[in-house]
Amino acid sequence: MIRSVVMGSGAAKPRTVVTNDDLAKKVDTSDEWIQQRTGIEQRYIAEEDETTASLGEAAARAALADANLTVDDIDMIILATSTPNNTFPATAVNIQNRLGMKHGAAFDMQAVCSGFVYAVTTADSFIKAGQAKRILVIGSETFSRILDWEDRTTCVLFGDGAGAIVLEAQEGVGMSNDRGVLTSHLRSDGSHREKLYVDGGPSTTQTVGHLRMQGREVFKHAVAMITDVIEAAFEATGLTADDIDWFIPHQANRRIIDASAKKLNIASEKVVLTVNQHGNTSAASIPLAIDAARKDGRLKEGDLVLLEAMGGGFTWGAVLVRW
Ligand code: UT7
Repeated sequence: MIRSVVMGSGAAKPRTVVTNDDLAKKVDTSDEWIQQRTGIEQRYIAEEDETTASLGEAAARAALADANLTVDDIDMIILATSTPNNTFPATAVNIQNRLGMKHGAAFDMQAVCSGFVYAVTTADSFIKAGQAKRILVIGSETFSRILDWEDRTTCVLFGDGAGAIVLEAQEGVGMSNDRGVLTSHLRSDGSHREKLYVDGGPSTTQTVGHLRMQGREVFKHAVAMITDVIEAAFEATGLTADDIDWFIPHQANRRIIDASAKKLNIASEKVVLTVNQHGNTSAASIPLAIDAARKDGRLKEGDLVLLEAMGGGFTWGAVLVRW
């Protein structure tokens, strides 16, 4: 059985850190409120010359170096983003060009905060179908560009950044101790649109628009949706919360992460948390957290990792992968 094995990871953060106190000088908020409600202490915000493409390119280069590979070894790029450089061409194609890659295919994937989980699942399907040998999967966002900086209920929550992994086709035996993606489960339900959306777009307003969120409503659904899809991943593999080495969730809110881990009986020391440092970076949050856990030595080859995300749409999903 073909498995999609993670060969390397990388990340890129904008130069500028913005603390909660920095924000409190511009909008009616406080470090105390933000930390208590979300766990966020700071976020990175892109300067004018830093874009989804430039951050994605830097993360991709770091992941390729970590995997000891070059673009010549890659035959596909999938970029998860909701903040593309342009409406078209796809920002993945822009990154492909920046990397000097003229072969293969590159495309964007749009599932908001679940984008990275959707992109990994898509890459795994291409690899399992024998249509690609190595795929660069990137999550890159500049949410600061679509925030309403006068709306304190949203602007304090998000940040910018990028992360990437390289997936490679390798032969496995089809058991849960194989390395690579073991199972993935995707869900969506468009009836929740109004709870988290951007109020503009080419076909409606001909503008980019701003992010709008009914935070409490999203919160209400988040834990149930996350735990439901994770239970589906456990059921498909026969694995349990005890088998997990690292839980690397989408980093939207520490309270959602803690409540999900508690409901699933995942020990708190297995939870990788970066929301305090990065804020919510949407499709970039999981690969940024992966890279943090790799760099500090926690995440090692052979570890069983649970990825999970939930966001606009609603979309949600979970992936079990053995490193
Ligand atoms: O990645 C996609 C998924 N997104 C999420 O997972 C986000 C999910 N939602 C959340 O994380 C939380 O709902 C928030 C962090 C957005 C909000 O926390 P909450 O505990 O649900 O607060 P709330 O919206 O119920 O607001 C409580 C109070 C309100 O004041 P009143 O009406 O009680 O007087 C808000 O006006 O907090 C006020 N408030 C603020 N105060 C200071 C809202 N934003 C702020 C702020 N600073 N930035």
